[in-house]
Amino acid sequence: MNTILVTGGAGFIGSNFVKYYLNKYPSDTLINLDDLTYAGNLENLKDIENNANYHFIKGSICDKELLRKIFKTEIKTTLEAPNLVAHFAAESHVDRSIKDSSPFIQTNVVGTQILLDTVREFWSTTSKKRNCFLHVSTDEVYGSLGKTGLFTENNQIKPNSPYSASKASSDLLVRAYYKTFNLPVITTRCSNNYGPYQFPEKLIPLIINNIINKKPLPIYGQGLNIRDWLFVLDHCAALDTAIKQGKFGEVYNIGGNNEWTNIDIVKLICKIMDEKLGNKTSSTQLINYVTDRPGHDLRYAIDATKIKNELGWEPEHTFEKGIVATIDWYLENQVWLQEVTSGEYQKYYNKHYL
Ligand SMILES: NC(=O)c1ccc[n+]([C@@H]2O[C@H](COP(=O)([O-])OP(=O)(O)OC[C@H]3O[C@@H](n4cnc5c(N)ncnc54)[C@H](O)[C@@H]3O)[C@@H](O)[C@H]2O)c1
Repeated sequence: MNTILVTGGAGFIGSNFVKYYLNKYPSDTLINLDDLTYAGNLENLKDIENNANYHFIKGSICDKELLRKIFKTEIKTTLEAPNLVAHFAAESHVDRSIKDSSPFIQTNVVGTQILLDTVREFWSTTSKKRNCFLHVSTDEVYGSLGKTGLFTENNQIKPNSPYSASKASSDLLVRAYYKTFNLPVITTRCSNNYGPYQFPEKLIPLIINNIINKKPLPIYGQGLNIRDWLFVLDHCAALDTAIKQGKFGEVYNIGGNNEWTNIDIVKLICKIMDEKLGNKTSSTQLINYVTDRPGHDLRYAIDATKIKNELGWEPEHTFEKGIVATIDWYLENQVWLQEVTSGEYQKYYNKHYL
């Protein structure tokens, strides 16, 4: 049986992964370490909070002593030390990194280094169980593509935003810990995720939430930036494959083969929601073109051939079904939407998006 430490498991992808993992491996033990920033929400995990194999610890990956206690099994003596780590915890929003990059450097870079050092201290090369540190990174580290081409794992790292620079820095640290200390690490770089529980400052839930509330739909520039969209549960399956079967020291790209311009995705969401809500006037009238994000990458697109050929993973959800399921989820979970967008976030939103 494995004991897996998930960092950032109360966020969007992390909470989907926690539930995916416990469902798939009901006998494993999962420890979720999350500092519950504005992006972390225990409501995301309500349905598994009483699972005997699930343990939540509130705290930061920057807290070295707390991490050491987890690995020394001092927090809960009944728990074994983690033999797997799935590292999601991060500051994840590009716009916020442009306004203030400090928390990005602190959590994404320094936090990752502290976590790596802790794992290095406690994992021995003679362990009977598979040890693996899975570092969840992003295609944004590669920078921007032109109109053609795809990112492969061999692309040079050329991050353009403080967020992607912080992720690229952590990727390089992970790589260095493999080369220098032979730490069993794997890095994955995925494209834009969508699905339930995504914080509504990211494009898809922001647009859904604003259509529900008849607020303007802010679109950067002309809306022509292209992203490759990946359903979050497909991402979880890929991460599970990587942590269990991936080769140490390797990078695996994870993508949805699903490129959309921002404006087309917004128009699609308007169409689906207008039908569902019986709107008489088109929600596209709410579209509001705003000054482009500085350094806005034009296009990201992933070549995920390596993980397909070497580990047998491919996305299973079509975008047509995934986007409808996602919209349905937000329509059915408006209490969740209201809760996560109240308080401090509401002030931030009103200041920066209205
Ligand atoms: N969302 C995407 O489309 C996407 C795409 C590529 C890569 N990623 C990467 O996937 C990971 C998860 O992304 P997400 O969208 O779920 O992010 P998120 O912002 O929804 O969640 C991040 C989580 O990390 C927690 N956290 C932040 N700082 C912490 C700290 N110091 N210690 C412990 N916990 C802390 C937050 O409370 C939150 O629960 C990130 O590493 C991100 O860079 C995300």
